[in-house]
Amino acid sequence: MSTPSSEPASAQQTSREEGEILEIRGGRPLVGRVDVKGAKNFATKAMVASLLGETESVLRDVPDISDVAVVRSLLEVHGVGVVEESEGVLRLDPTGAVSANFEEIDAHAGASRIPILFCGPLLHLLGQAFIPDLGGCRIGDRPIDFHLDALRKFGAIVDKQPSGIRLSAPEGLHGADIELPYPSVGATEQVLLTAVRARGTTELRNAAIEPEIMDLIAVLQKMGAIISYEPNRVIFIEGVDKLRGYDHRSIFDRNEAASWACAALATDGDIFVGGAKQQEMLTFLNVFRKAGGDFDIQEDGIRFRRDGALRPVSVETDVHPGFMTDWQQPLIVALTQAEGVSTVHETVYENRLGFTQALNKMGADIVVHPEGIASPERRVPRRALEQAAVISGPTPLHGADVVVPDLRGGYSYVIAALAANGTSIVRNVGIIRRGYEKFFDKLTALGADFDVIG
Ligand code: EPZ
Repeated sequence: MSTPSSEPASAQQTSREEGEILEIRGGRPLVGRVDVKGAKNFATKAMVASLLGETESVLRDVPDISDVAVVRSLLEVHGVGVVEESEGVLRLDPTGAVSANFEEIDAHAGASRIPILFCGPLLHLLGQAFIPDLGGCRIGDRPIDFHLDALRKFGAIVDKQPSGIRLSAPEGLHGADIELPYPSVGATEQVLLTAVRARGTTELRNAAIEPEIMDLIAVLQKMGAIISYEPNRVIFIEGVDKLRGYDHRSIFDRNEAASWACAALATDGDIFVGGAKQQEMLTFLNVFRKAGGDFDIQEDGIRFRRDGALRPVSVETDVHPGFMTDWQQPLIVALTQAEGVSTVHETVYENRLGFTQALNKMGADIVVHPEGIASPERRVPRRALEQAAVISGPTPLHGADVVVPDLRGGYSYVIAALAANGTSIVRNVGIIRRGYEKFFDKLTALGADFDVIG
């Protein structure tokens, strides 16, 4: 677990994980064991939830990634005490929470979207909140209209300014009747974190129901919230006057587990992912098997490997329980080695297939159709574009000099370089540290042949 800033714990890690440029010598299968910790897309939200409690919270299995470090810094500038009790165990004390000034918040926001989730808890706690310009991966324009519309319905006054968004709630916050235009993960979390302390009942329709959302509901229920999860994506929240701290072990990181599984396919390797569980990965495992992968579900993890020649598949990303958008980028690298033509239709983000250009530079044959598959209906309202990739394989990959565009795209480039014949230079790999704990150490454990050269 990192020290107060985003510095990794060990000196050895510092020297390796500060590197922004990797030289990778490919052509070797990845074989061995990696262990995934708590989910990046859950632990950060549970940390924000601690602001709602009147007593300390303990969060376990917290991954050592910069997204967690960013949220930790933001909590600390708001006066929340954050102590690392032991590796991966955070004790969060909100009793000293205070308003922070704009400059401090802005300095600590980093390339993360999590700050937007501070709105509800800070409005309950302090009657005001300031949210800086948000970061996050460049995979689309990442609007927050669903969030702001919901906060207004709770009674918040939202004032968008050039430097960020100022919010206030002079009359406090009341329950709301909210139907999301799309089952947005972030907007669902926004509503949950605001409704639990609002006066009265909130009804949320068309909610996201990802396992990470359900784990956040479990955390809030531990704190004293009354949340009922109804059929057809409806969630009722009865506001309560006060909440206490929680003690919770984070759900495992499905995205990281799926990433390593795709690495085993792409490099013809054999990777045991400790901590991975079948239930939350059912859809991924079906696609993995159809693509020519084999897996063994064991007590403490899942073993992933190739089962003969890779086969083409047709995949459409969707909200849970569909095929997660975060899984498609590593999968596409493996599909470049499948014998036939695969299609991946990205329906969640409008620009999450741009990373394929660099794969083509490495010898892949991927055509991206910006209009997606010919279907006039768009999942995300007012979405101009979806995209669809057509991947023809198998195409031997060769080394190239590439620059990481985003978190999952960056992971995919490293895997492609490991699958390629020859040497690759992968730049801007610091982005990968945002979401993959001890990434270089894990590659080393799996026998990857690389050096950090810059
Ligand atoms: C979360 O992003 C995850 N990030 C993403 O993971 C993940 O891909 C995404 O959920 C979908 O599962 C975190 O949890 C930190 P959304 P989020 O709101 O909450 C549009 C990764 O690699 N939208 O479900 O931002 C939006 O543009 C990251 O770990 C609006 O139009 O996702 C997108 O097209 C990448 N208006 C779609 O909805 C809004 O106000 C889904 O976004 C909000 C979203």
